[in-house]
Amino acid sequence: MPINPNKLNMLREIKEQPQTIRDTISSTLRQVESVKQIIEETASNRRAVFLIGCGTSYYASIAGKCAIQAFSGIPCVAYTASEFRDFEIMNKGDTVIAVSQSGETGDMLTAVKQAMKHGCRTISITNEAKSTLAEISQKTIVTKAGKESAVPMTKTYTALLAALFSIAVSLGDGEQLIPELEKTPKIVEDTIKISETQVRDISAKLSDPSEILLLGRGPNYATAAEGSLKFKEASLVHAEAFHSPEFRHGPKALVKQGTPVIALTNSNKLDETTIRLMEELKTTGANTISIGDLAGSTIRIPPFNYYLTPIPYIIPLQILAFYLAVQKGIDPDNPKNLVKVTTAT
Ligand code: AGP
Repeated sequence: MPINPNKLNMLREIKEQPQTIRDTISSTLRQVESVKQIIEETASNRRAVFLIGCGTSYYASIAGKCAIQAFSGIPCVAYTASEFRDFEIMNKGDTVIAVSQSGETGDMLTAVKQAMKHGCRTISITNEAKSTLAEISQKTIVTKAGKESAVPMTKTYTALLAALFSIAVSLGDGEQLIPELEKTPKIVEDTIKISETQVRDISAKLSDPSEILLLGRGPNYATAAEGSLKFKEASLVHAEAFHSPEFRHGPKALVKQGTPVIALTNSNKLDETTIRLMEELKTTGANTISIGDLAGSTIRIPPFNYYLTPIPYIIPLQILAFYLAVQKGIDPDNPKNLVKVTTAT
């Protein structure tokens, strides 16, 4: 039975993002002082800063880590909560930034409790002020995404990013970037407008792809990974994300005539390697699609600070995952086998 896209929560929630990001940035900047203090003290005591999350929230942690390091020079590590809990060495005085929209994810709660036992300091970033995570953490930043009904995270993902980037610009010399960060809602609004028709067109041409490969690096490896998760859960398409330079070390063998390869490409020098790779893949027959600020991009996003681009760059991928699902007659709001909150460990 054909699905009416305008009746689905996922599309409505994608379109709410300019406002939810705006609200999250202003609210986080107002209360960031104590978080800033904890992170700066941890760094000056030469203790570790970890960012942990599961699924989409782990990808937000990767982008958050890149921004914190780039803006403040404070080293930090991003982990899935379950791997952190079972394999990392935790020491008294380390700081754990726990990223979770629900604040009730089982793997996250056990990881944070374990970190607390070891004497780690805990900061949570969550969309649920009354969650268990918020209750047990020493400090909580609550994102302003509002209720998210679709199982695939869209507006809660960008709200988590908005909170993490607000923390990142508050550290070290980052403050000069606050005006740039505050441009995010407008850039997202423009990106939604620019990309919707183009993305519907791409989706119609892709029809029902058997796989999609995604390439990105640094902050936008997070975008590639989050995009691949959206394709898997919302559109039921197998998708895999790679750090673009790693693609040459084996995965390139997978590319056949017409294989869709989507890359996040920015004019920042660091992305030149991805651009060269995409040119090469095009000559071998791949169906190359690029998202970024370059003149020849398939979907062109306005220029923006490199480490803040994960917010606008995920938008076309969210919309593409949504339309691929609708085209296949799948309800993207309620993917099979999944629940909104994964309490099982
Ligand atoms: C997101 O689209 C997924 N449904 C899932 O990966 C989710 O991000 C993960 O279960 C973590 O959820 P949390 O943010 O509520 O902790």
